[in-house]
Amino acid sequence: MATWNLDKTKHHVLICNGSSCNRVGAEEVTQAIRSEIANQELDPYIHTTRTLCNGRCHDKCVVISYPDGLWYKDMKPHDAPEFVNSLKTNQPFFKKISHTFYGEGFQRTDGTVKGISKQKETVIKASKKL
Ligand code: FES
Repeated sequence: MATWNLDKTKHHVLICNGSSCNRVGAEEVTQAIRSEIANQELDPYIHTTRTLCNGRCHDKCVVISYPDGLWYKDMKPHDAPEFVNSLKTNQPFFKKISHTFYGEGFQRTDGTVKGISKQKETVIKASKKL
């Protein structure tokens, strides 16, 4: 196990390695992003973490960056250089953004599938407590 020093970290990148994303190349996306970070000597500034499913399987492969509050969709290994450059320059990688956090919630980019609502499930759970 590793214990990374995060003192200089500016971006935390979550790379979905859930089953849907893995079926379309999440491992290759992960390796490409990590290689690009290493090649640009950005390891002290960009920390990556593999995750399980992020609940947006339609957008596979999903990559999320914080504190930017940006969710990316349809990420491919060849996107890695442009994506890492976007982090380095603090500019969003616009062409792959699915959602942007605005403090009050997330705004979905045009062309991104809305997805199913959690509201029905919440109502059912709440009614069981009554
Ligand atoms: S497996 Fe990646 S969002 Fe579901």
